[in-house]
Amino acid sequence: MIPGMWYAVLESHEVKKGKPVGVTRMAEKLVFWRDADGKLSCLRDLCAHRGAQLSAGRIIHSHIECPFHGLEYDLSGKCVCIPANGMNSPVPDNFRIFSYPCREEHGFVWIYWGEGKDFPEEIPFFDDLDDTKFTCVSIADPWRIHYSRAIENQLDVVHLPFVHHNTIGRGCKTLVNGPVVRASEKEIAIWVTNAVDEGQRPLSQDNIDVAGRTPTVRFMFPNIWQLSVAPNFRIMVAFAPVDNENTVLYLRTYLSSFRPFAFLVRRFPLIIAHQDRMVVQTQRPKKSSLFMHENLIPGDRPIVEYRRIRETLVSRGAVPAEDRQLVIK
Ligand code: FES
Ligand SMILES: [Fe+2]
Repeated sequence: MIPGMWYAVLESHEVKKGKPVGVTRMAEKLVFWRDADGKLSCLRDLCAHRGAQLSAGRIIHSHIECPFHGLEYDLSGKCVCIPANGMNSPVPDNFRIFSYPCREEHGFVWIYWGEGKDFPEEIPFFDDLDDTKFTCVSIADPWRIHYSRAIENQLDVVHLPFVHHNTIGRGCKTLVNGPVVRASEKEIAIWVTNAVDEGQRPLSQDNIDVAGRTPTVRFMFPNIWQLSVAPNFRIMVAFAPVDNENTVLYLRTYLSSFRPFAFLVRRFPLIIAHQDRMVVQTQRPKKSSLFMHENLIPGDRPIVEYRRIRETLVSRGAVPAEDRQLVIK
């Protein structure tokens, strides 16, 4: 996990008023809930009293109540009432639960995974996915693999004619020209120019002109990706890290024309994703890293760039000083 970044971890509509939602994200059990005004809170799903899960409790008076002995917590994770001590007894300071900074933008719930409260204001998102221009529909898809492998699959331009031979990889374009890759610590952009192999040598990226062309794929650190199918048709994925062996993909279809069809085509990314998932879940190790026993080829360059930048960002940041049992890297 790259520390010091905002991660899309849920769709906003998954957290309804009046009902806490318990999920595992970032290798931790978390509870998301809203107060009476709809304000969102993300707490570690572990009561400060004797360790029960708050997500099994209920929301009362804009507080979340533990189902075991009724302790109540506010949005910040501070306990505001211990019923057994009496309503007029002060609550000791140590009755507090770790809370993650959380925000809602573009229909996602984002949490900041890092130290302290000194987080960047800006949430990473694609500037061209103007929410008012597009109709967006979404499907959640669980994968039994570390999120790094799931992301790498979406940067993999070599697999298309094999995994997707009867869908988006039709045409037997097995020869990988380039690919052209522009990578920074914020974003990786890829232009796919695969071709049918007629005995020619693959072009290097320096010999491919992409001036004025929209990248086929864009990935923004730490966990969002976009495929430009057409100017009015995009597929976007948020890779929500669950734990070291699981990821939830939020697959979104964005349409800016033929909007009523958005609902009809929303299963299209799922069909493609399941072709990917079948293979990616077999990869070992389940988590990728910069130095591992794989033999890479020039077409794998986007994956190498992803690993390189991720490694740099991870080593620059500090793992939160919390007493985590399990830290995803
Ligand atoms: S364990 Fe939560 S109130 Fe006791
Ligand atoms: Fe794929």
